[in-house]
Amino acid sequence: VQPHHRALGFCERFGLRLPILQAPMAGSSPPELAIAVAQAGGMGASGALQDTPERIAEWARRFRASSDGAFQINIWIPEDSELDPRARRVRVRAAGRFLRQFGAAPDVDEPGEPRPNFEDQCGAMLAAQPTALSSITGLFPSEVIAGMRERGIAWFCCATSLAEALAAQEAGADAIVAQGMEAGGHRGTFDQDQAERNDVGLFSLVPWFADHLRIPTIAAGGIADGRGVAAALSLGASAVQVGTALLRSPEAGITREWSDALAGLAPEDTVTTRAYTGRLARAAPTSYLAAWTAPDAPRPAPFPDQLRLVTRSRKGNPRGLDEANHWAGQSAALATTDRAGEIVARMWRDAKALLA
Ligand SMILES: Cc1cc2nc3c(=O)[nH]c(=O)nc-3n(C[C@H](O)[C@H](O)[C@H](O)COP(=O)(O)O)c2cc1C
Repeated sequence: VQPHHRALGFCERFGLRLPILQAPMAGSSPPELAIAVAQAGGMGASGALQDTPERIAEWARRFRASSDGAFQINIWIPEDSELDPRARRVRVRAAGRFLRQFGAAPDVDEPGEPRPNFEDQCGAMLAAQPTALSSITGLFPSEVIAGMRERGIAWFCCATSLAEALAAQEAGADAIVAQGMEAGGHRGTFDQDQAERNDVGLFSLVPWFADHLRIPTIAAGGIADGRGVAAALSLGASAVQVGTALLRSPEAGITREWSDALAGLAPEDTVTTRAYTGRLARAAPTSYLAAWTAPDAPRPAPFPDQLRLVTRSRKGNPRGLDEANHWAGQSAALATTDRAGEIVARMWRDAKALLA
């Protein structure tokens, strides 16, 4: 099938006018951004990881007040830790001690803020009746998959290897988000301990998935202009998912500091780190992140302990600890400050010209 036709088939199935999905970005996907992308003909998204059921419902209500377009709601699948509790404590202590050099001494034993309950979040996501629910870092439990089937909600599953993609296809996923290692934010690898080893670039991942899956592949990671869209579709993708390219748009509402950190950021200067949350993620470089790569630095604590330690340290008069995480994909330098709808429309216009 011709790349353009494959993409149009995907659009028809999911009610889109162009094959571009806004990436769900926990903490950085306000309804305004999703509305702008959906009104331009793409798919909007909510990253619901940190949201209570009430907030999930409220997000969908605000989206629907301004758009009848398509949207996905996304969540991270919790991981059963196989780490021995004693080994975990040793790592939490070491990371807590290391964090003291940044002027804040987190109490390593203090529990963090309670996190929203995953089952309740899934219930609210189903009730919101989006076009699709999407999962990252694993598969939805079978009750949630059954709930999607009943309501006619599609399931998009993020995968970073063919084994993960095949497991999702087997479990009933409707499309696979192929996440290349270029991607900004967290790496979706199911087994978090394997995240560093699992570093396939999108140019290899997309044809590999397209050749081995029955269901469509959505390409994600480093796609930030029409050239990237055309390349991904030519390699076998049916659509693309874009995060970093939209972060500097006014609708994304990120801080001035974060937007400035993305401006002109070279691909080779972005870094992957576990120092913010304990899970591997790609961000703009800082001296805080560099400190964690020193030969004598400990490993960051596992997720979510590292996130808890960093959050507490930030509250305690930090010195040299980054004020916020500036997630960045490798194509950050291509991100513009144009309106999100314009960015998406231009990407598709330029891609069509290249594919013609
Ligand atoms: C700020 C930020 C937050 C993200 N949060 C999530 C998330 O909550 N869930 C998810 O599935 N992916 C998340 N991602 C990853 C995206 O889904 C996608 O894989 C990535 O943005 C694609 O690479 P790009 O940033 O180069 O476009 C996030 C990405 C960024 C940049």
